[in-house]
Parts: sequence; C-alpha cells; structure tokens
Amino acid sequence: MTKTIDPKRWCEGRVHALRQWTDKLYSIQVEADVDTFTAGQFTKLGLIIGDEFVSRPYSYVTAPDEALREFYFIIVPDGPLTNAMIELKAGDPIHVMRKAAGFLTLSEVPPAPHLWMLSTGTAIGPFLSILKTEEPWQRYQRIVLVHAVRCAEELSFAETVQAIQNAHPDQFNFIPFVSREDTDFAIRARVPAAISDGRLEARAGLAITPESSQIMICGNPDMVKSTQSVLEERGLARNKRRAPGHITVENYW
Ligand SMILES: Cc1cc2nc3c(=O)[nH]c(=O)nc-3n(C[C@H](O)[C@H](O)[C@H](O)COP(=O)(O)OP(=O)(O)OC[C@H]3O[C@@H](n4cnc5c(N)ncnc54)[C@H](O)[C@@H]3O)c2cc1C
Ligand SMILES: NC(=O)c1ccc[n+]([C@@H]2O[C@H](COP(=O)([O-])OP(=O)(O)OC[C@H]3O[C@@H](n4cnc5c(N)ncnc54)[C@H](OP(=O)(O)O)[C@@H]3O)[C@@H](O)[C@H]2O)c1
Repeated sequence: MTKTIDPKRWCEGRVHALRQWTDKLYSIQVEADVDTFTAGQFTKLGLIIGDEFVSRPYSYVTAPDEALREFYFIIVPDGPLTNAMIELKAGDPIHVMRKAAGFLTLSEVPPAPHLWMLSTGTAIGPFLSILKTEEPWQRYQRIVLVHAVRCAEELSFAETVQAIQNAHPDQFNFIPFVSREDTDFAIRARVPAAISDGRLEARAGLAITPESSQIMICGNPDMVKSTQSVLEERGLARNKRRAPGHITVENYW
C-alpha cells in the first residue's frame, strides 16, 4: 500500500521537460510551488512506483529566483527512482519536498579572497545554482569552478557555464577535468592528484593556501575524501560552525 504523501511536506509538481545530455545523464525541469530555498541546497523528488512512494535527494541546479526548478541526475543501474524519472513526459506529476535542506551554501563559507568549487559528475549542479546568484561575486575576488568527468561529452551545462563566464570575465575561471580521454582543453587527471602535483593551481593561476582560499567540494564521496586529505596536508581544515575552517563538503552517496 502506498504511504500517504503528506501535502504539508510535499507539493505535487509537473514535469516541464526532460533534457537528455548523454545516454546516462539527464536533467528534469519541474514546475513546483516549493518554499524558498538557498542556492546550493537540495530537496527531494518522489514518484509512486508500483505501490511504493520512492523519494531521493537532488540538488537544485537553478537559482532560487528561477521559476522552473531543474535537477541534474545520472541513471544509476537498477536505481528505482532514476530509471522511473527518465520515462516521465511533459505534464506528468512529480512530488517535490517543499522545504530544501543542506549546508553546501555560501552562508556556511567564511570570507576569503578566493573561492574554489570542486565537483564530480552531477555535483556541478549546486555550484551552478550558487553562481547564478549575486552573492559569490560580491564576496569573493576570484572564483574557480572545477567539473571533473570521465568523458568530454559529460561536461553538461556548457551554455550556463559560458553565460557565467561572460557575466564575470575577470573573476571566474572554469576548469574542466576529463579523466578518461585526451582533449585539448581539459586536465586529464583526478582532482586530488592535480592538487598534489600543482596542475590545478597552475591552470587557475592561483595558489591554494589557508590564508587565501575557501574550498567547497561536492560529489563522489571518495573524491571528496581524497581531496580533503590533500588539502589538509596543505594546512587547510574542515569548516565547522564552531571552528571555522576552509573546506565545506557534500557527499552524493
Ligand atoms: C545531499 C544529496 C544530494 C544529491 N543530489 C543529487 C543530484 O543532484 N543528482 C544526482 O544524480 N544524484 C544526487 N544525489 C543522489 C540521489 O539522491 C540518488 O541516490 C540517485 O539518483 C539514485 O537514486 P535511485 O533510486 O535511482 O538509485 P538507488 O538505488 O538509490 O542508488 C543508490 C546508489 O547509486 C549510486 N549513486 C547515487 N547517486 C549517484 C550519483 N549522482 N552519481 C553516481 N552514483 C550515484 C551510489 O552507489 C548509491 O549508493 C544526491 C544525494 C544526496 C545525499
Ligand atoms: N559516466 C559513465 O559513463 C558511467 C558508466 C557506468 C557507470 N557509471 C556509474 O555512475 C556513477 C557516477 O559516474 P560519474 O561518471 O558521474 O562519476 P564518477 O565515477 O564519480 O567520475 C567523475 C570523475 O570523478 C573521478 N573520480 C572517481 N573516483 C575518484 C576518486 N576516488 N578520487 C578522485 N576522483 C575520482 C573520475 O575519475 P576516473 O575516470 O579516474 O574514475 C571522473 O573524472 C558511478 O557510480 C559509476 O559507477 C557511470
């Protein structure tokens, strides 16, 4: 029996469109009357599958003031929700948790000259949401966005990244990482290795130091962990509310 879906917690949204980026990567645009959220936060999406209500967390890719709400996801093999979401059509219902959650937000990040945003795969989403708002550009002199993927075709949202670049040409630096094929534009490495050997900083033209840098990391938990270790060796510390540091993270699984 399907559990009752509490209308105080969930609103019934409508699918506006499903965008397919590669054979495994999609984003879903939803019209939903959700509560105000902070850029960088996630909500939950839910569908009734068989006689079960299945819900999972997804980060907003869109900024809080955008009418359409967009979420970027990868199909997980045998994953119930992602495999159901790719079958949705415009106009289909989808449940969205009204209240967003999560601490990958600028309100958690102390001031510094430079902000680094390091993502793998679908975790570029919350950083795009933040970068579409005014706050980061007022608070940080330079912002570096890293998107690490296996293959170049997985560098989704290129138009959004380009629009951010055009709006902030002197402040913003986008650095793609493509680990499993050669390109003439991306760093071919994993992020922690490229910090250790200096390639990331050389490409950005900026040093990562405790005095100058705040680092946000999101995505693959193994990447988050290894990157944090490499940064800790450089004297940066995890950011906590009671003990402000330099590294603010969110794991996707
Ligand atoms: C805070 C938070 C925010 C999240 N935001 C996003 C998002 O914006 N986009 C997104 O695609 N997923 C996101 N996720 C993961 C998402 O909630 C689901 O776990 C995922 O979509 C799979 O759901 P499923 O029911 O199809 O498969 P499940 O049966 O729930 O599969 C779960 C397993 O799939 C793998 N997995 C889950 N998510 C990913 C991923 N993104 N990339 C690679 N492997 C993964 C892990 O091994 C995990 O244990 C987020 C998770 C958390 C905790
Ligand atoms: N993308 C695909 O075509 C594909 C295909 C089949 C299954 N999947 C599944 O989908 C999930 C997500 O795939 P994804 O491609 O979005 O994300 P991903 O596997 O996290 O890869 C994204 C980037 O993160 C790097 N990375 C992986 N583990 C790392 C670590 N421990 N430290 C540092 N960097 C690391 C990858 O480098 P490396 O290339 O060196 O790993 C790649 O550059 C995975 O669980 C995967 O099993 C994806």
